[in-house]
Amino acid sequence: MSNIKEVISDKNYELTGFSRCKFGGEFTECNMSGTKFIKDNIDGSWLIESSATGMGLDRVNFSGSCFSSCDFSNVEISSCKLDGMTLNGISALELLEFYKQNHKENNNMNRELRKPVMAGNWKMNKTRPEAVKLVKELAAAVDTEVKCEVIACVPFTDIESAQNAAGVSFIKVGAQNCHFANSGAYTGEISAEMLKEMGVEYVVLGHSERRQYFGEIDETVNKRTKAALSAGLKPIVCVGELLWERECNITEEVVARQIKLDFFNISADEIQNCIIAYEPVWAIGTGKTATEDQAQEVCAYIRSIIAKLYGQNIADGIRILYGGSMNEGNVEKLLAEPDVDGGLVGGASLKPQAFAAMIKAASV
Ligand code: PGA
Repeated sequence: MSNIKEVISDKNYELTGFSRCKFGGEFTECNMSGTKFIKDNIDGSWLIESSATGMGLDRVNFSGSCFSSCDFSNVEISSCKLDGMTLNGISALELLEFYKQNHKENNNMNRELRKPVMAGNWKMNKTRPEAVKLVKELAAAVDTEVKCEVIACVPFTDIESAQNAAGVSFIKVGAQNCHFANSGAYTGEISAEMLKEMGVEYVVLGHSERRQYFGEIDETVNKRTKAALSAGLKPIVCVGELLWERECNITEEVVARQIKLDFFNISADEIQNCIIAYEPVWAIGTGKTATEDQAQEVCAYIRSIIAKLYGQNIADGIRILYGGSMNEGNVEKLLAEPDVDGGLVGGASLKPQAFAAMIKAASV
């Protein structure tokens, strides 16, 4: 902004210095030390009363400035130093601390609304004896009260052995897929009813590896989800964007489309028996975890889509998990986010000590 006159939009104001001037411009890097911003009672516009000198408003330093009755919605503030700054007489740092605390309390409230879930996705790992060993080691490794739901989604061949090993412990045994037909000429497939008959409660559907390697598409995820629900199973439906989709800035479009298609024609009653797992494909098995902010952003967005489709009550009750290189080192931060209700864990669920630590983190 080179010339102050260019941004004076209402010349009716008295122009003494910058006192009572009305500006409609963008101030970048100005030195506004000693400046007061006052909201005009008459038309709500901003008045600037300033002792600043010179015409150049470049290089703003707001130290010593006074902002009263400001509306900062949609303002982005980056790289700021806040110490010494007060808002309505309260230190900005104290406010931030209060916000963090409050955020935690909100999260505790969400925990009351939604029981956290730690689901292990064993993928194509473990023979029956190995499965028995892993389940037993996990049961023994957890030494605190378990306040989350723990599910081990094992290969079909391990289901019965894992169930026996789990016994009456906190570990539930789930499956990793099911077919959409009840029975018939589908060589190599397993139906939802077959799983139900085995006492399985949860089944993972639409995992990105199934989408990537086995031709799974949203239409078939939808059919499988319906079949699982009619058999009385609880689907854990996976959604998530590819790396290039994130880079093209279409993560929201991608997950919204998946949610709408995967849950097409699924009723409000039925969706309450579903869990959604947000798994950014670029984070699965790569060691690259989404940051807690990224995870929160998409999980909250998914919740907002559910709210639009089914109403806020249903959205508030549905559990949304994060998955993708979740481990004992990052679990706490991820679970501290208000819309992240647990994890779908691959690699780390095969390590009893690591998974036990994650169960503990979800049990606070
Ligand atoms: P990961 O897998 O934890 O090994 O990244 C997660 C998943 O595929 O569900």
